[in-house]
Parts: sequence; structure tokens; C-alpha cells
Amino acid sequence: MGSRNIEELCEELKAKRASALAGGGEKAVAKQKEKGKGTARERISQLLDPGTFVEIDELVTHRCTNFGIEKTKPLGDGVVTGWGTIDGRKVFVFSQDFTVLGGSLGEKHADKICKIMDMAVQMGCPVVGINDSGGARIQEAVDSLNGYGKIFFRNTLSSGVIPQISVIMGPTAGGAVYSPALTDFVFMVEGTGVMHITGPAVIKAVTGEEVTSEELGGAKTHNTRSGNAHFTAKTEEECFAQVRKVLSYLPSNNLDNAPTTETGDNVERMDAELREIVPTNPNKSYDVHDILVHVLDDGVFTEVQAGWAQNILTGYGRVGGRSVGIIANQAKVMAGCLDIDASDKASRFIRHCDAFNLPIVTFVDVPGYLPGVAQEHNGIIRHGAKLLYAYSEASVPLITVILRKAYGGAYLAMSSKALGADLVLAWPQSEIAVMGAEGAANIVFKKEIDAAADPGATRLEKIDEYRNAFATPYVAAERGLVDRVILPEETRKELWLALCGMDSKRVGRPNKKHGVIPH
Ligand code: HXC
Repeated sequence: MGSRNIEELCEELKAKRASALAGGGEKAVAKQKEKGKGTARERISQLLDPGTFVEIDELVTHRCTNFGIEKTKPLGDGVVTGWGTIDGRKVFVFSQDFTVLGGSLGEKHADKICKIMDMAVQMGCPVVGINDSGGARIQEAVDSLNGYGKIFFRNTLSSGVIPQISVIMGPTAGGAVYSPALTDFVFMVEGTGVMHITGPAVIKAVTGEEVTSEELGGAKTHNTRSGNAHFTAKTEEECFAQVRKVLSYLPSNNLDNAPTTETGDNVERMDAELREIVPTNPNKSYDVHDILVHVLDDGVFTEVQAGWAQNILTGYGRVGGRSVGIIANQAKVMAGCLDIDASDKASRFIRHCDAFNLPIVTFVDVPGYLPGVAQEHNGIIRHGAKLLYAYSEASVPLITVILRKAYGGAYLAMSSKALGADLVLAWPQSEIAVMGAEGAANIVFKKEIDAAADPGATRLEKIDEYRNAFATPYVAAERGLVDRVILPEETRKELWLALCGMDSKRVGRPNKKHGVIPH
């Protein structure tokens, strides 16, 4: 028997490559398109810089022999993996191919994902996972479950080391949802991305509730009700643009600093309109987005979890080309009160920024914690504690801008000096006090008000007296709890000076394995 010639061998390789590239075949690809979904490779091309994708493991196949699956051994095993660049920076990626065995996850499919995750950590680069899968490959039984377990383990060890992004562009069911939940951010596409632990049929059988898949676990549900997702997009293209944008604010890993960008927006720009946005009357509302767009570079604020817990804003922006994380009370939703969801949302974002060396700028206008039996019974104490924990634990520069109200426990929770804020700036209309002037006057001057000939008029006088004496930034400034009282128009320049002043921050803490975070 003679050995085969090189031409034959090359043809054999080309045939294998073609087979891998064909995915589940024309019919399955057509079905994928009918649903408005791209193929696994098309999605990678949309995500990465053109022509930069390098694929590995395209010849991997499963070794299962149960229930006749051995007759179908597609190359690639239902997931496309490799690396490429986004804005010229290296990123590792996996993209499940629903056209191959429904994108279901078996032993080798999981091994491919784990390999990419290991490489991403070792090379210090973000990993983006595109999910479109029928879940655990039924035929592979416990091998499939074990595969998920290995991914969860890596998600956890990679957390805070490299940015991990999950993109949901198809079904993600059962325990499969826990990998996305362990990553930094979940992006969903409306109409196709779905996540749930148990689907509509099981729910109907167990509880009798009737719900559609979209209502149960679609993009809108997770972006507005459950808080499980952070971004929603109408199309796959829009979703990838969002992923690219978020990554542009982040370093590739926890040992790097975020990239800086060029901006034509002068850091010394004074913005007179800032005086007009926040009403001095504490009962009047406004939209804190208006402050952010006046202060940040080129008016760009990239909001994270825009649809959930809208009483607090989280997101990214830049000042003088430097990335910052932003937390801001939203006066126009529930007067900016802190509640369970707002505490969860903000504290997780603070930890994300801290892990990836992003200074945190906090804009404060907070009347307190939301009163209510439901809040108390659902654990506002432990949820609210997360916010105290996250700020206290953070070692990145913390800069606080008090815009108006900063009352009581919520004053402390919103990046106060005592919790480690490096620089607290306050606008002249700031009211830093135990509570609002009305409540305080009612308590402090109760006897005088009750004894007065005209209690109504006396009450108003006493409220004014309290407001003038205490509802100002100056008592806190006298104690050094506010570092600088600034004019609203100076905010951008002051933030720039603060960021430059604090950028060499070093924090020493006692060694420990890890804290016991409230949850
Ligand atoms: C093996 C699967 C599969 C799976 C889909 N396929 N899911 N094969 N294991 N989990 C196959 C189908 O048999 C079909 O093969 C092809 O993929 C396409 O699926 P369709 O059903 O034709 O697609 P569609 O109509 O779009 O329906 C999509 C779907 C449905 C809703 C996801 O396929 C489905 O319900 N699949 C099962 C989902 C499930 O129960 N997964 C296990 C969840 S439990 P052919 O050969 O016909 O093309 C879980 C536990 C994880 O994941 C625990 C982790 C800790």
C-alpha cells in the first residue's frame, strides 16, 4: 500500500473544513434565518473587527453513542470558538450553532467553551459568549450536565479577572441560564433571546399558570422586571454594537487600565445650563440624565440596566477621555429613593467597576430608603447593606457629587466620606441632613409649634429656620465631610481635577480570603 499524495491529503482537509463550515446544512440554516437569527459564524463576523477571527477546534466532534446520535457526528459539535479583535483589542469568543443538534451542549461542546475561557484568562482578554441552544444535550446525559458545571466553575474563577459578556440570541433554558448569570453582563435580542429555568409547559403543569415563552423570559421581561439582563436590542446588529461599546470602556483584564480616548471636549468647559436643571425646591423633580450629558465627554452616557430599578442610574462615561463608572440617584423615579432593586443594581455595578479599575463617580440626590412593609419583609436591610459593603470595599477612586438631597442612612450609603469617598463635592443647594427640613422641624420644634397661637404659621417659620441652618452643604463642609462646595457649572472641570488628583490611589487592607457579603 502506497502512502497518499499531498494533493489528496489537502483535499481531505478542505472537505473537512467545508463540512464544518456548512454547520447543520442548508435546511437548518434556512430555518435559522426564518426565525430572524444569524448563523454562529455570521454573528462572530458582526461582533469582531472584519477579517480578524481565528477559529480553533472546528474538527472537534462528540463521542456519544446513545440513542443513535453516533450516526450524526457534525464537525465543530455545535459551537464555533476562537479569537479576534474588537477596536483592535483581542477578545475570545464562542458562538453556539443552533443549526447543529440545536446548539445543544454535550461533553465536547462544553470542552470547546472551557478551552476558550481558559485561554481568555491566560491571555488576559475579555470573553464573549453567544448563546443559542436547546440546552443540555439529552443524549449525553450526565456528561452534558458536567460540561455546564465546568463552565460555571470557570465563570466564577474568571469573575473580576477578565470581562465576561453573555449574548442571548436564542433559547437558554434550565441550568444553562446560570453561566450568563455568572458573567458581568447579559445582552438580549428582542423576540429571539429567551432565558428561563423552567419553561411555560412545566410551569403550567406544576402551578397552572399560563404564560408565553416571551412573557416568561424574553428580553423585555429580563430588562424591566427580573433584572437578569442588562441590555436589550431590537436586532442582532444593534446588540453587537452595544457589546463593542461596553467593551470600549473596559480594560482587557483586572491588571490593566481602561483605554483612554481622544476628545475635543474641553475638560475646563463651564456649563451654565447646569444651574437650571436641579430645582432648589426639594419637592420638584428633574431627570438626572440631563446632568450627566452636560458633564461627560461629548454628552455621552452609556447606561447599564436602563430599564430596571430606574430610581438609580448605572453606566459608563468619560471625562477628558478617561473611562468612569457612574452611579446616580434618579429624582424623577420614586424621588430617587433607594429600595431593594436599586441597592442590588448599584452595588453590583460598583463591584464591577472596582474589579476593573474604573473610578466611580456618584451623583447624589436621595431622600432616603423607600418606606413600606413589602420592602422591609423582602429584606431591604440585607439588600441595602450591599451598597454600604460595595462602596466600603471599593479601592478605586471614589468621587461624589452631591446635587441636592443627601438624607439620613441614604446619605451614608451613597458614597459618603465615611465609607471611603476620596473627594466629596457638593453643589450650593445641597441639603445634607438626618432628614428633610419639614420632618425635622416637626420633631425638633414640636413643643413650640403645639403651643403657638397659630401652629400652622409657626410650623412654616420653624421649617424655614431649620432649612436655613442645617439644610445646606456648609455644616458638612465645616466638618470636612464635604471637601469642596462647587458651582454647578464647574462640575466637569472639578471632576477632571478630582480624577487626576486621585488616579494614583493605593489602598492597603488586612489580608483575608474574602468577605461575607450580604445578599
Ligand atoms: C438534543 C436537541 C436539544 C437538546 C434541540 N435539539 N434541543 N437535541 N438535546 N437539548 C435538536 C432537536 O431535536 C432538533 O433536531 C434540532 O435540535 C432543532 O430543534 P427544534 O426542536 O426543531 O427547534 P425549535 O422548534 O426551534 O425548538 C427549539 C427548542 C426545542 C424550544 C429549544 O428544541 C426544545 O424544546 N428542545 C429541548 C429543550 C430542553 O428540554 N433542553 C434541556 C433543558 S434542561 P433535528 O434532528 O430534528 O433537527 C437543561 C439542563 C441544564 O438544559 C442543566 C445545567 C446545570
